Amino acid sequence: MKRIITGIQPSGNITLGNYLGAIKNLLALQNEEDVELLVFIADLHAITVPQEKLKLKQNIKNLAALYLACGLNPDKAHLFIQSEVPCHNQLGWVLECNSYIGELERMTQFKDKKAKQTKGVSAGLLTYPPLMAADILLYDVDYVPVGEDQKQHLELTRNLAERFNNHYGDTFKIPEPYITKVGAKIMSLTEPEKKMSKSDPNPKAYIALLDDLNIARKKIMSAVTDSDGKVKYDLENKPGISNLLSIYSALTEKPIVEIEKQYENSNYATFKSDLANLVCDLLAKIQERYKYYISSNDLDLVLNSGRDLAYHLASRKLQKVYRKVGLGRN
Ligand code: AMP
Ligand code: TRP
Repeated sequence: MKRIITGIQPSGNITLGNYLGAIKNLLALQNEEDVELLVFIADLHAITVPQEKLKLKQNIKNLAALYLACGLNPDKAHLFIQSEVPCHNQLGWVLECNSYIGELERMTQFKDKKAKQTKGVSAGLLTYPPLMAADILLYDVDYVPVGEDQKQHLELTRNLAERFNNHYGDTFKIPEPYITKVGAKIMSLTEPEKKMSKSDPNPKAYIALLDDLNIARKKIMSAVTDSDGKVKYDLENKPGISNLLSIYSALTEKPIVEIEKQYENSNYATFKSDLANLVCDLLAKIQERYKYYISSNDLDLVLNSGRDLAYHLASRKLQKVYRKVGLGRN
């Protein structure tokens, strides 16, 4: 049995890019045999930058409901909220005390986020990676699916685990990064050289999974293309249409060449309109299930059972760590 864990930050507006690049891969993983999947909402990570209380609360619940709506199966994957399992903070502290300020200051994401803060940089922004290491090391996981931006944090997690094991004796399993298969990289609909991002100031640049269907359709229909008029994949000269082809291909799982052939004699409007139908079908399905979960007691039941299982696993590991370090009386 291979155990896999992943955490997702509860920021609003999950996009089609998130779905095709990350969520879809997770859904495939849960169906593999001999895989135990843990998925948690990383709310403790979210407060490393300022958050509004009510919005954060809403985002946490919305994200959990959205994951279930996308097809995460609670019988196969354990879904929980990070702050409800305090072992994460507890091991996080021990790992912080075994991290060096220098190595934390070298993290690219810290440097980027620090540069963006106008009202001072929280200490939590610096100590975020040992907390992330705790998220992973508590559960003896085999693999952690990570995007490019999190690779450095995973490398640090491995270093911290090895450092701890060398110093205190074998305690943590060393996790491997899990590089997902071609998780489509979806680009902005208005500036196709840029990644589709939920934080884009122009909402026309992305499709949010909870977008009104008419608005989503309009966004696809007005996506930036070129004046050549041929539905052909050419990343360099036709980034807009290439991006739409990638989306089409990711949604239908048809190879791009096949789609090109299908639209050989069609104009952009026909192609875009078909793509808009595909996107709207997906969104409609997700939104219907989302509406159910967000107002159903099932969501709480799933999160309670995820929390209980996570706590059961994590508290055992934490006890072991405390003992090895010499904390408390036992
Ligand atoms: P983020 O929204 O940047 O926190 O990313 C959450 C997850 O979604 C990560 O695994 C990203 O790699 C993935 N993701 C975000 N935006 C895109 C995109 N435009 N295309 C593909 N994957 C994405
Ligand atoms: N840092 C990750 C992000 O910003 C989220 C995260 C927190 C995570 N803890 C994790 C991912 C543990 C994988 C494993 O996207």
